[in-house]
Amino acid sequence: MDRPARAAASAPGKVILFGEHAVVYGEASLSLAINRRTRVQGEPRPDATTVNGYPLDTVHHGYIHQALRAGWQGGPLRLETHSDIPSASGVGSSAALSVATVAVLQRLRGEATDPRQVALGAFETEFETQGAASPNDTTVSSAGGGVLLAPRALDLPGVQPLWEIHRGERRWAAHRVRLPSLPLVVATCARKSRTSEQVAKVRRFVEHNAFGRDVVKEIGRITLEGLHALDRGDLRRVGQLMNRNHECLHTLGVDSPELARLIDAARKAPGTFGAKITGAGGGGSIVVLTEEPEEARRILEPLSLHAFVVQPDLHGVLIEA
Ligand code: MEV
Repeated sequence: MDRPARAAASAPGKVILFGEHAVVYGEASLSLAINRRTRVQGEPRPDATTVNGYPLDTVHHGYIHQALRAGWQGGPLRLETHSDIPSASGVGSSAALSVATVAVLQRLRGEATDPRQVALGAFETEFETQGAASPNDTTVSSAGGGVLLAPRALDLPGVQPLWEIHRGERRWAAHRVRLPSLPLVVATCARKSRTSEQVAKVRRFVEHNAFGRDVVKEIGRITLEGLHALDRGDLRRVGQLMNRNHECLHTLGVDSPELARLIDAARKAPGTFGAKITGAGGGGSIVVLTEEPEEARRILEPLSLHAFVVQPDLHGVLIEA
């Protein structure tokens, strides 16, 4: 395949229905790609690499810097990024940036786009930049649609194996999941949150506390029960399990007063089945399963930085030029 003079790729954000944090320890997680995307465009330039017109900087462009370090031996590049995914808000902005950047570099190297290779490269990018990560967010962003990560390949109705990911002693099996249409709302609080800090906080708890490890295992069980409830189309049960998952995240220490306020308002809204943190927590977003998504969005909007009804995105990474 020829090396193009210019390449562009986009990748979606995500919501996690079940399993954040626990997935870092190899437990199951279930996520959905959403129709908010990050687009990256790249082309050679004569002198130093720039991002959106600024010199490449390890602090401000950490994910791009890492993706280039691992996957680019060519000359300087002009990179432009554009995103409609709220940043540092638990809805997958860094994974989408990593996925789209890795895909652009793959194209500029003259290689065909392979979502699995993109997902693996983007996972390494996230892991090295954050100091720890699971492949959850990068797999969902690369594959699109509903994605289940589990400690081993599962043979279940509506679930098809995608690929496996290894790092150190951990192993995750990624699956495509056919999800029913889910009326979901995301609300984002004003407090931003760094995934690396929340993951490190949970690690301190889990490493030193057997109860913490039990909570992580309980999240894994909730995720698999949630998967079965979704397969039956039992949204009431799914909502109850989301609430239980939220209580576990609260116990792991990643709740915050801002998120608790949103959860409280969401649970009081008419038609709510359940609500939980989505993503790393500390700040960021909640996800609500509700019979009345427009009404929930209207109630949460004045309390949030962003509140939107989720539309799934069945496309993962896309090459756009
Ligand atoms: C963040 O969106 C999800 C976490 O589980 C971290 C990870 O899986 O890398 C908190």
